[in-house]
Amino acid sequence: MSDLQASSNLDNEFIDKIIKSQEHWQSTIDAVQDYIFVIDRNHVIRNANLSFARRFQKHPREIIGLNVDELLCFEIPHPDMFTPEQDGIISSREITVKDSTYVISVFPARYDEEDVFVYVMKDITELINLKNKLYYAYKLASIGRLVSGVAHELNNPLTGILGYAEILSLKVQDEGIKKDLAKISKSAERCKVIIDSLLCFSRQQATQRSLEYINDIIDKIVELRAYWHRNQNIEIVREYEADMPLCYIDTQQIQQVVLNILMNAEQAVSEAGREGKIVIRTWHDKVNQKLMLSIADNGIGIPKENLSRIFDPFFTTKPVNKGTGLGLSISYGIVLEHDGMIHVESREGEGSVFTIQIPFK
Ligand SMILES: Nc1ncnc2c1ncn2[C@@H]1O[C@H](COP(=O)(O)OP(=O)(O)OP(=O)(O)O)[C@@H](O)[C@H]1O
Ligand SMILES: [Mg+2]
Repeated sequence: MSDLQASSNLDNEFIDKIIKSQEHWQSTIDAVQDYIFVIDRNHVIRNANLSFARRFQKHPREIIGLNVDELLCFEIPHPDMFTPEQDGIISSREITVKDSTYVISVFPARYDEEDVFVYVMKDITELINLKNKLYYAYKLASIGRLVSGVAHELNNPLTGILGYAEILSLKVQDEGIKKDLAKISKSAERCKVIIDSLLCFSRQQATQRSLEYINDIIDKIVELRAYWHRNQNIEIVREYEADMPLCYIDTQQIQQVVLNILMNAEQAVSEAGREGKIVIRTWHDKVNQKLMLSIADNGIGIPKENLSRIFDPFFTTKPVNKGTGLGLSISYGIVLEHDGMIHVESREGEGSVFTIQIPFK
C-alpha cells in the first residue's frame, strides 16, 4: 500500500468517525422528549431534535432554516429577555400557550464564530394541574374542617328554634302571630338547608364506586330537571358518545356534580334573558383513557376576574338566599376524589363550558 493510499484510508476512517459521532449526538438529543432547538440571532432554526420537529409533523432536517416564531405561531422569549443566573450559563422562563405551559431554558453557545442559543422547552402542564389539585385539596380540607365544626354547633340551636316555633304555633290562636311564627320556621328551614350543604361539603366520606354508564347518570338528572326546563323554555341538547365504556365512579356524587353544574347553567341562561340552550356532551378520550363530559350554556358567562375564584368555597355572585357558593367547590372536591379535573372556559355575555375529565379506572 502506497503512503498516499494509507493516508486516504486514515482520512476516510476519520470522516467515518466524525459522521458516527454526529449521528450519536443527534440520537442523543432525539431521545429527549423535551423540545430542543438551536436558533441564531435572527431566530432561524439551526438544529432541532425529533420531538420538536414532530410537533409540526416534520423531520428535524425539514425545519432547519425556518424562522422559529413563524413555525411556533407564538413568539418565544428572546435571549435578551432572560436574566442570566450564575455564570450567565442558564436561565428559565415559564410561558403558557393555549392550554399548555412550558418552562423554556436557554443556553448560549457558539457555532464557529457565531452566537447561537440552545432552547430547551419542557411541557409542565401536567405538573401545574397537579399543583393546582394539591392546592385545592389542601384548601378544601382546611375549610372543610372549620366549616363542619361551625355547622354542628349551629345545628342544635336551630333545631330548638324550629321545635319551639312549631310548639308555639300550636298554642296560639292569633292568626297574625301564627303567620310570624311561620316566617321564623321558614327562615330557620332555610338555615338548615345551608347547614346541610355545609356538612355535605365538609364530609370526608370515602367514595363508594361501582361500574356505571355516565350517560345513564346524566339522563336521570336531566329527567329530574325536565319540568323546570320546560317551564323556563330551556332547550337541553344531549350529544352522547354511544359506546362509552363503563366508568368506575360514585353514582350519587357524580349525580351531584352534574346537578350543580346544570343548575348553574340554568341560572346563567335565565339571567341572560334569551332562549336558553344547554348542550351536554360525553366522549371517550381513548389516548388518556378518560371519560370526558362537558356542559355548555349560552348564559351570562363569567367575567375574567371571577374565573379563578368560582371553585372557591363560598364564592357566589348570586343574591342572598339564592346561592351559598358551595356548588362548584363541592363538585371540585368530588371530581378530585375521582382523580379527575374540572375546568371552565367562559366568555362574559356569551356563555360557559364546564369540562370534566375522569380516568376510567
Ligand atoms: N354556568 C355559569 N355561568 C355563569 N356563571 C357561573 C356559572 N357557573 C358558576 N358560575 C359562577 O360561579 C359562582 C359559584 O358557583 P357555585 O355553584 O359554586 O355557587 P352558587 O351557584 O353561587 O351557589 P350554590 O351552588 O351553592 O347554590 C356563581 O355564583 C356564578 O357567579
Ligand atoms: Mg351553584
